[in-house]
Amino acid sequence: MFFRRLRRHLNNRNTTGNRDGNRDTRPRIFPNGAHILIIGMLIPSFLWTFALVLYPPSVFTGNFPNSNVFLLTAHPDDESMFFGPTLHRLSKNNVSVNIICFSTGDNEGIGHVRKAELEAAVSYFGSEKNPVNLLQIVDKPNIFPDSMTVEWNSTLLALHTKDIIESYISPENKDSINILTFDYFGVSGHANHRALFHAAKLLSDESRIAAYSFKPENGGSTTKREEESILPQNVVSTKYHVWTLKSVPIYRKYIFVLDSFISYLSYFASEEALKKKSFTIVSSFEEYSKTLSAMTKAHVSQMKWFRYAWTIFSRYMVVNDINLLDEEYNLGF
Ligand SMILES: *[C@@H]1O[C@H](CO)[C@@H](O)[C@H](O)[C@H]1NC(C)=O
Ligand SMILES: *[C@@H]1O[C@H](CO)[C@@H](O)[C@H](O)[C@H]1NC(C)=O
Repeated sequence: MFFRRLRRHLNNRNTTGNRDGNRDTRPRIFPNGAHILIIGMLIPSFLWTFALVLYPPSVFTGNFPNSNVFLLTAHPDDESMFFGPTLHRLSKNNVSVNIICFSTGDNEGIGHVRKAELEAAVSYFGSEKNPVNLLQIVDKPNIFPDSMTVEWNSTLLALHTKDIIESYISPENKDSINILTFDYFGVSGHANHRALFHAAKLLSDESRIAAYSFKPENGGSTTKREEESILPQNVVSTKYHVWTLKSVPIYRKYIFVLDSFISYLSYFASEEALKKKSFTIVSSFEEYSKTLSAMTKAHVSQMKWFRYAWTIFSRYMVVNDINLLDEEYNLGF
């Protein structure tokens, strides 16, 4: 019954769609819109699944001492546009996630709106058991304005970072703190992103000098420590481990999850020493959809057409390569 009706329906359709009146009974062999749509969704899903086999969400290779991390960003939405995959994975692995954003994103005069958007966005990161622990938005436009052309003073930025972190961290965790931020290119080359890298590097260098100089077997003394100090005050007694988000060249930037395969190949081509200091995270479908919601439902004022394109095509929405910065390797791309 049903099939007869269906056949009649299909026949009618063919007849009406055929201008010269001959009924075309040949099976359709050319793909129509539905085929293209189905294939267009199957292939990416298959590749994404394959990427998750290479980088299983259950395996976390990052080793974060003391299980705390402070993410330094420059503008509200940096955390969602660039760091989503890492934030989800850290939280899933019981790492306490803290976000310090160094501007309200007031470049177009809507800093107060964007501040509220960031506060809403953090609820998409972290789980019920382990929500984002701290969000601090620094509103100091005279020293850290949201601007592509103003270079933030990285010394000042390092001092601010240190003050904020040390006011939150308990004394027993003070000898080991993780900072996560941009690498020296800062994904897009934005001056504010790069300044964050330089500030984090100052803290990393400074804490290494401190660790070295204070040891008498290295000929260290407090005087020597002060001479070598990069920061103006003799400030750093904490060990800062700095993790950076690797910037990729433009041809890798807009190929979404496919870029994880390039990460995979480049990892195996890299030196042994470097392998120990880097890892890649690929978001699961669920994690990606949360990052997508953070962008589209929280950072509403930012959702121009090119941001929609970003959320669909950018590899940073699903893939993050994280490198540990230390004295031997100044990792970038
Ligand atoms: C995170 O902590 C919960 C309980 O606090 C525990 O059940 C879970 O196994 C932990 N997860 C990891 C990955 O350590
Ligand atoms: C950056 O700030 C520090 C500390 O206030 C200051 O000593 C230094 O001169 C500043 N650097 C520049 C380039 O303004």
